[in-house]
Amino acid sequence: MSKNGSISASVIKRLPRYYRLLGELKNQGIDRISSRELSQRMRLTASQIRQDLNCFGGFGQQGFGYHVDELRSEIGKILGVDRGFRTIVIGAGNLGRAIATHINFDTRGCRLIGIFDSNKDLTGVKVGELRVRHADELEGFCRRYRPTVAVLCIPKASTQQIADTLVSMGVRAFWNFSHYDLSISYDGIIVENVHLGDSLLTLTYGVNVMMPADGTETEEEQ
Ligand code: NAI
Repeated sequence: MSKNGSISASVIKRLPRYYRLLGELKNQGIDRISSRELSQRMRLTASQIRQDLNCFGGFGQQGFGYHVDELRSEIGKILGVDRGFRTIVIGAGNLGRAIATHINFDTRGCRLIGIFDSNKDLTGVKVGELRVRHADELEGFCRRYRPTVAVLCIPKASTQQIADTLVSMGVRAFWNFSHYDLSISYDGIIVENVHLGDSLLTLTYGVNVMMPADGTETEEEQ
């Protein structure tokens, strides 16, 4: 952690990548890495790596590089991977089910304890280890289990109302997949808006620059 206890947003954005790479190295039985190699693998300059890691204490040793496990565990502490924040998913449609079953919450600081949907037909349906609860149970559940994190996989129109309820029930953070931008509404609540479509547009920007339009893209496949 930096001396003033805060880390810049751009460094925080890179930390999960460091953490993932160090985990892969650890799994390969590698216990130290030079800053040059780390920078090659991260596709960052060695000085950028040093600056990033100096934000929370350095860990590098001249001529030795970095202890993979030590660095990974320090970054893990900063990311809160062992905290097990109680987490609920709202919306058990295609996306909610995919997220509940394919994301390993346990290794990312969260513990999935409930999944809710307003569609009665889904009540009781098994999603991974959990059964879908009806949205009517949400308030009682929150009062009892005090979830900290909510993953929003519901349509835009329902998002504000659900988020208001959840904030009033003590939820402090939203992983928001609905296409409704929550960050404008709450002070002191962490919001991570996710738009897979934006990621695709970043890709198409790159392809657009690399391959100038020649009119063939819209032709029908034969
Ligand atoms: P879906 O229609 O399969 O599932 C939505 C579920 O939300 C339904 O089961 C519905 O009953 C439930 N629901 C609606 N209002 C609710 C409420 N107030 N409380 C609890 N449950 C409620 O849709 P899908 O494909 O799962 O997508 C969910 C949302 O995520 C959509 O709005 C979609 O646009 C968005 N989306 C966002 C992506 C992103 O990258 N941010 C990617 C894919 C989808």
